[in-house]
Formats: sequence, structure tokens, C-alpha cells
Amino acid sequence: YTVEYHESIGSTNDRARERAADGDRDIVVVADEQTGGRGRLERSWDSPPGGIWASTVLDPTLPAAHVPLVTLAAGVAVVDACRAVGVEATLKWPNDVLVGDAPDSRRGDADATTDAARGGQKLAGILTEMEGEADRVSWLLVGVGLNANIAPEALPNDATSLQEQIGAVDRRAVLQTILESLSALVAAPETIIEQWRAYSSTLGRTVRVDTGRNEIEGKAVDVQFPGALVVDTDSGEEVVHAGDCEHLR
Ligand code: BTN
Repeated sequence: YTVEYHESIGSTNDRARERAADGDRDIVVVADEQTGGRGRLERSWDSPPGGIWASTVLDPTLPAAHVPLVTLAAGVAVVDACRAVGVEATLKWPNDVLVGDAPDSRRGDADATTDAARGGQKLAGILTEMEGEADRVSWLLVGVGLNANIAPEALPNDATSLQEQIGAVDRRAVLQTILESLSALVAAPETIIEQWRAYSSTLGRTVRVDTGRNEIEGKAVDVQFPGALVVDTDSGEEVVHAGDCEHLR
């Protein structure tokens, strides 16, 4: 990888997009701070100094339908890096990285309304973007936002940071673990879903998924190729390809 570093930038995904459009591949754009960080579903993403805000343009030789798999792989890679420094992170479908959301660590309050109150706090998120023709991806980038060296006071209640969990980390080393793990996974795509299942805190839970068109509620029973969530509902199994997932119980 060649690394392009910025002390402050609007969004590393936007910059990586420009580089991708120019034909650059195997690069990573990193910033200490983003002033216009973007999250999934048109949300903004808080990116104060001290985080790991990075976007990598991959060299994909895969069909567009396999892109969700790369997104899952990025989540697995981030969890690998967190666990390597001693933080027991888990994955909420499709790729929110949480701390304290293992089913057995839940408080289970009947009236808890936030993920934080239920036990899960967000440590990292992933925003994948691509451009492609019918069956071929022309470029694919993965943006990773990991709350690394951010003081707890600077975080919303439903978020946490590596610093809050274990103290300040070597951001360069953590990013390197993420990138190495991601390229190993992309090189062995048949291992991605299995790894994702092992790190998941969604499977086995009662979930509500907002797909933008409807809400699906039931027990999350599996994740299947290329990254869909299988939910066991009152009216049978539903296969959900995209959406916002909430852990209910
Ligand atoms: C989410 O959970 O909603 C995804 C958040 C992704 C944030 C990262 S930070 C680096 C990259 N640049 C952005 O503007 N967004 C992603």
C-alpha cells in the first residue's frame, strides 16, 4: 500500500474516490481528523483528532454482487485488530464494531432504549463505496472509522474508543493489522463468512431490521453469501440484503 496522510481532511472516502477515479489502486488515505466524515445511510460520522480514519482502494477482480462480502471482511479485519490489542469487540450486522454486546454481557432492562443501555457501544464503522458495470467492479473502496485515541468525554454515550477500553494505542500498528487482515481475507473469500459468524453478536439475537422499505423482526439465524442476514420471522425466513439492524433482546 502507498499511504496518503492528511492532518485534516473533509472525508478520506471522498479523497479515496478521487484517487480511485484516477485509476489508483492499493492505496490508503488516512487522516488524523475529518471535518465531513460520512457514515452509512447518509449519516454524518464524528471524526475528531486521534481516531483511525482511513479509506483504502482495493484492486478488486470480483463481480459487483460479491461486494457485500468485502464489507463483511472489513468488519472482521477491524475486530481482528481490536482483539490483537486486547479489546473484545464483536460485529453487529452488517458491520458495526461494538464493545460489550455479547449476549451474556447484556443488562437486559425492559425499558432500555439505546444500544448503550443494552450493553453495546459502537467502536468502529465501515462505509464501502464502489462503481461498477453490470458484472464487473471498476473500483471499490473501504472506509474504516475506528475510535482509537479519543477521550471518553469526546464520545457520545452510545460510542466507545480503544483509549477508553485499554488506553492509548499505536494507531499505525492497529491500521497495519487491519489492512493486512483485510487483504488476507479478500485473498481467501471462502473464509470470510465463517470468520464473520465467529465474531458476530447478532446471530441468535432477536433483531429488528429497517430495510428502508419495511421492518423485519425476528431471530437472526445466519449470515449467508454474499452477506445477507437470515431472519426467522412469524411468517417464515426472510433474507435481508441491506438495512439498519437493531438488537432487541
Ligand atoms: C458507519 O458506521 O456508519 C460507517 C462509518 C464510516 C466512517 C469512516 S471514517 C473514514 C471514512 N471516511 C468517511 O467519511 N467515512 C469513513
